[in-house]
Amino acid sequence: MPYQQNHPGHQGHQDHRASPTPAAHLLCVVAARPNLMKMAPILAALGRQAPALRVTLLHTGQHYDPAMSGQVFADLGMRAPDIALDVGSGSHAQQTAEIMRRFDAVLDAHPPPAPDAVLVVGDVNSTLACALVAAKRAIPVIHVEAGLRSGDRRMPEEINRVLTDQLSALLLTSEDGARANLLREGIAAERIVFTGNVMIDSLRRQLPRAVAPATTLRLHGHACPPTYGLLTLHRPSNVDDAGQLAALLEALGQLARQLPLLFPVHPRTRAALRLAGLEQQLARHAIVCLPPLGYLEMLGLMRDARLVLTDSGGIQEESTALGVPCLTLRENTERPVTVSVGTNTLAGTQPASIVALARGMLETGGKRGAMPPLWDGHAAERVAAAVIAWLAAHRELP
Ligand code: UD1
Repeated sequence: MPYQQNHPGHQGHQDHRASPTPAAHLLCVVAARPNLMKMAPILAALGRQAPALRVTLLHTGQHYDPAMSGQVFADLGMRAPDIALDVGSGSHAQQTAEIMRRFDAVLDAHPPPAPDAVLVVGDVNSTLACALVAAKRAIPVIHVEAGLRSGDRRMPEEINRVLTDQLSALLLTSEDGARANLLREGIAAERIVFTGNVMIDSLRRQLPRAVAPATTLRLHGHACPPTYGLLTLHRPSNVDDAGQLAALLEALGQLARQLPLLFPVHPRTRAALRLAGLEQQLARHAIVCLPPLGYLEMLGLMRDARLVLTDSGGIQEESTALGVPCLTLRENTERPVTVSVGTNTLAGTQPASIVALARGMLETGGKRGAMPPLWDGHAAERVAAAVIAWLAAHRELP
């Protein structure tokens, strides 16, 4: 079997043949680390608002290292998946195709009726792969975090966003500009609901449990500097090209002389550093490399950082919510509200301008920012309400 079904006794797999009007059934997909912070509050809100709803949780296994998956489940207090596809890594085509093949097999094996809807989050390969399989089987797709656009089709995530939105029946948005993006692409207005940012629900809920930076650093054999910058890098455009990665690290090394940098290294980046022979270069600079961290450790490091430097999507949002200045090491962002309202500044990828901007921020203290609309810790409640209303309106009872 290409997949496992965990917890066969769970409510997600109850036998409903005896019931004349079976409960509605929602299949929720997670795949990669940032999906988990989005899904955890949604599952909790669905449980509170619709206890009778059958919810099956499927993990594609796109992220599989314990640090990228199991630890984050534990940090969020999230229940184990009902179905694990264990798809692992591969090229985009291989990974997407394999997820599609395995997800299709799950739906074939599942006793009818099919789920009433498939809920996907974010913009990773699994989001698109599962949306495509569901849509081709005429199972409606619900997309949480719809309508974000960088305008840069060289980003694999941008392709995933555009196509997933085209396939979705209900599109739930996290920032107000997303609606205009969707309307421009021909999505009907009545299918779009502005629900706010579910990632910030997790942040607010878990912040009191954040691990102190000194504890995290001690665990990994380092002393905690009194003040530091937090660095993350994993975008293919920054790490897959050895020349670009070397230039970035040289610039960040210059900055680290002024402000020590803590650098939890993503597995993709670790592999790129090794391949390019750059691990020595890092060791020369005051850049403290750490393994991928748990969510509660990462929250602690972000909260207390003087400055965040990142190419991640979620960390742009989290630093805005925490009021910590952020320099995004990219030419564009699909999350413009973090720049227009929040603490984010687009720094581009040119080493000299990154260093100049970072030094300027250290002098001025950086952007203050405010909380974007509906980043209030209650987005998952609105997502659950929209999903339940949609199921009630569209579900065909036998
Ligand atoms: C993926 C998402 C990206 C998201 C990021 C968060 C896509 C196209 N990209 O990028 O949008 O911001 O997750 O982390 O879906 N690897 C491991 N262990 C793991 C996972 C990955 O070692 O648990 C390594 C593998 O060598 C793999 C590489 O990292 O080939 C890339 O992983 P993949 O999931 O394909 O993409 P990410 O770069 O993590």
